[in-house]
Amino acid sequence: MTLSRSDPQDIVVVGITGDLAARKLLPALYNLEAENLLPERGRVIGYATDPWTVDDLREHARQSIAAHSRTGLDEAVFARFARRLDYVSSADGMEALAARLGEESCVVYLAVPSSAFIPLVGQLDRSGIAKRAVVIIEKPFGHNVESARALNDALHAVLSEERIFRIDHYMGKETVQNLLVFRFGNAVFERVWNRDCITQVEIGVAESLGVEQRGAFYEETGAIRDIVQNHLFQVLSIVAMEPPVSFDAEALRNEKVKVLTACHPVDPAQVVRGQYTAGEIDGVPVRGYREEPGVAPDSTTETYAALRLRIDSWRWAGVPFLLRTGKRLRARETRVTIAFKDVPLHLFSGSGGTHAVHSNHLVIRIQPDEGISFSFIAKQPGPEIRTQKVHMDFGYGSSFKVSPPEAYERLLHDVLHRDHTLFIREDEVERGWEIVDPVIRQPGPVHPYVSGNWGPSQANALAAGAHWHSMEDDDPAAADRVVAAAAESARR
Ligand code: BG6
Repeated sequence: MTLSRSDPQDIVVVGITGDLAARKLLPALYNLEAENLLPERGRVIGYATDPWTVDDLREHARQSIAAHSRTGLDEAVFARFARRLDYVSSADGMEALAARLGEESCVVYLAVPSSAFIPLVGQLDRSGIAKRAVVIIEKPFGHNVESARALNDALHAVLSEERIFRIDHYMGKETVQNLLVFRFGNAVFERVWNRDCITQVEIGVAESLGVEQRGAFYEETGAIRDIVQNHLFQVLSIVAMEPPVSFDAEALRNEKVKVLTACHPVDPAQVVRGQYTAGEIDGVPVRGYREEPGVAPDSTTETYAALRLRIDSWRWAGVPFLLRTGKRLRARETRVTIAFKDVPLHLFSGSGGTHAVHSNHLVIRIQPDEGISFSFIAKQPGPEIRTQKVHMDFGYGSSFKVSPPEAYERLLHDVLHRDHTLFIREDEVERGWEIVDPVIRQPGPVHPYVSGNWGPSQANALAAGAHWHSMEDDDPAAADRVVAAAAESARR
């Protein structure tokens, strides 16, 4: 869609004094202001328990934007933005908020812990705001199948599905949207995007950060609920979906849901859970998960999860989908790695010289160093046949000379226009929980891994031939395993 100003409307941020508003929402709203994408008429009204004045909010917004805005803070833009700000303390109640709102429909962002969603939606109902509001909520949408259904029921008692915007900020990332363009805007890839040509799909969200100040929250959550059920499943559904008939919200979301429907609930034996112990990240010592504030010394919450999924569809039957995520891993890196089938005969392996045995890989770098690369083997210059792995590479930074905008800017813009394309539908949420349900019920052991490594080695066994293609460059033994697997398959 073309970005534009929406109709006049107010935006209410419930929980504006909290962390999400400071790090993401205020900077995103400010950047929309900078790009003239906030409605011509419309305020940004904060609502929270703190007894603040509007000047307190302005000062807080200034500091949050200066610290977290991708474009820094420009005084003239901030002056415009600050004029929009208003504040209502929850001590005065939702009725006071209702009285402050304009006549038009409005956006209410519930930037609060998910336990507060249902009571707040009740208050929006009683104050009359719900009738003219669309409501934004953030993951986690429940903590298992039952609670997700209960949350959806409670929301629907007050709001129709069109008035609910469930945010998974991965859908706001440029590189995730580019996956759609890459797949459906280039005929050549669609021809090979299936079980005939692809042997394995790997999707990884690695973080070098630990749980930071969120130990208590994380204890209740763990990596499967925090990342797998939402961010990883969103990327998975875009990688694996059929071409939608249009880029209309329902057409796209129908195809995403079909992927999840074809995906079997995970077999707990195909899941490896891990937990970080003390180690080093970039040469700096870091403590283990059990030593983090708010974490039980005998906690069995996973900070790492790797799983192998099966998608029984015409396109994907038999292709393993390997998902993994972890905190305190060696580097921050979110990638999709598509491993293509190997050549039927290794013509160059018997003729002396050295040989990189390598199947073609397509690597989509969601973040950082956003881009896409395709690897293949080439002949090294010289009299002998020596092969080497090389890459064709597209980088966002070098091609577009800009860094991608923040996910929240795009998502807030789309809510202002009531466009649901990048938001999560109720059936998507529920199916996501059904897929992880077996491992939530029977979590199995948690394997320790040293911070600064790539997670527990038990995860290797999930991959075909114990080989994660995305780990090849980090694992010197990987090339040997590929050679051995190729020799083995030639013998058979
Ligand atoms: C959040 C998780 O949804 O995503 C965090 O709760 C995680 O634990 C974060 O750190 C990762 O987001 P990003 O955009 O940095 O990949």
